[in-house]
Amino acid sequence: MVLAMSDKQRVLVLLKPDAVKRRLIGEIIGRYEARGLTVRAMELRTIDAEMAAQHYVEHIGRPYYEPLVEFITSGPLVAMVLEGRKAIPVVRAMNGKTDCAEAVPGTIRGDLGVHYRRNLVHASDSPESAAREVALWFPQLAEEPDETA
Ligand code: CDP
Ligand code: MG
Repeated sequence: MVLAMSDKQRVLVLLKPDAVKRRLIGEIIGRYEARGLTVRAMELRTIDAEMAAQHYVEHIGRPYYEPLVEFITSGPLVAMVLEGRKAIPVVRAMNGKTDCAEAVPGTIRGDLGVHYRRNLVHASDSPESAAREVALWFPQLAEEPDETA
C-alpha cells in the first residue's frame, strides 16, 4: 500500500516590532490569509534578550547580532504559526529577500520596506528550524499530534 504524503507544513512567522509600530499587522496577515494559509496560533508579545538569543541562536557572534537583538526586543511583535501546503517555501517567497531594498515588488519586504534589519517579517527557513521555532514560541502547539509530518 502506498501512503499519500502530505505537503502540509507549519511555519513560525514573526511580524517584527517595525511592522507593529507601522500598523502593518492587518496588511501582512491579510496577504498570508489571501494566499490560503491558516493561522494556527498567534500572540502579541514583547521578548527579552534571552528569548531573542534562543530564537536567533544561529546568529550569535555575527557582527549584526547586537543590533538585531536591540531591534527585535524594542517593542511588541506578533508571533504566529501558519499552516498550509508547502507553507515554509510559500511564506519565505512571499516575504522576499532579507534586505528590503533588494526584495522584488510583490513581496512583503519589496512592497513595504527599504531597510535590511527593519524588514518587517521573520519566517522559519526549513522544516527543522520550523519545528524548533514552533516549539520555542508555542510549546503547547508543538505537543499536539503532528499532522504535518
Ligand atoms: O530573516 P532572514 O531569514 O531573511 O535573514 P537572516 O539572514 O536569517 O537574518 C536574520 C535577521 O537578521 C534578518 O531578518 C535581519 O533583520 C537581521 N540582519 C541584520 O540586521 N543585518 C544583516 N547583515 C543580516 C541580517
Ligand atoms: Mg533567517
